[in-house]
Amino acid sequence: MSLKNPAAFEFLQTRRSRPAKTLIEPAPDREQLMPLLTAAARSPDHGKLEPWRFIVLEKGAMGRLSGLTQECGEALGKSPQDIEKARGQFDLGHLAVAVIEVQKPSEKIPAIEQTYSAGAVCLALLNAALTAGWGANWLSGWQTHDPEFCRKAFGLRDNESVAGLIHIATEGSTPPDRPRPDVDALTEWVTE
Ligand SMILES: Cc1cc2nc3c(=O)[nH]c(=O)nc-3n(C[C@H](O)[C@H](O)[C@H](O)COP(=O)(O)O)c2cc1C
Repeated sequence: MSLKNPAAFEFLQTRRSRPAKTLIEPAPDREQLMPLLTAAARSPDHGKLEPWRFIVLEKGAMGRLSGLTQECGEALGKSPQDIEKARGQFDLGHLAVAVIEVQKPSEKIPAIEQTYSAGAVCLALLNAALTAGWGANWLSGWQTHDPEFCRKAFGLRDNESVAGLIHIATEGSTPPDRPRPDVDALTEWVTE
């Protein structure tokens, strides 16, 4: 197979996340992060609605977000174990980008396509960070789906939700790859 961009193809064939809990300091600074956000914003977006935005969670924000997870978890009746696990990403976090889905009113573009576009931005940011040499991981957690947490943590409006928290920092240990899908079994070829 002839390849126009072998390095990019090799990356896409072998890419994998680095678990957030294995990431270590340093995290990218603002100057290092901006090109990654710029790459992520080059994502498919039907109707050019830009149905997403970024909130960068720097180290100084992590303690507040962990405490808020505790508060919201108790209000939701979550178990101490669930709360502890959900706090972990902030307790151990160095930097994360909250990719915020922003639903735009449109007669033409269905809401689900705006959701897909926000998901595409998450993967694009993850891949941009990995290609730049950072370790990165897309996380969520029950708190990111709790409107009260989202309002207090990020000031989200009613048309906004968290598509993903993309943790980005320096790679610590490299864990083994996970089993990958059997693409033959997932693929159907339509010939007529
Ligand atoms: C929308 C979404 C949310 C996720 N949330 C979590 C999470 O909260 N905790 C977790 O351990 N993994 C979560 N994952 C999975 C991790 O991102 C996991 O590292 C990823 O599936 C590894 O895939 P890769 O190695 O192909 O990049 C989530 C994945 C997606 C797509």
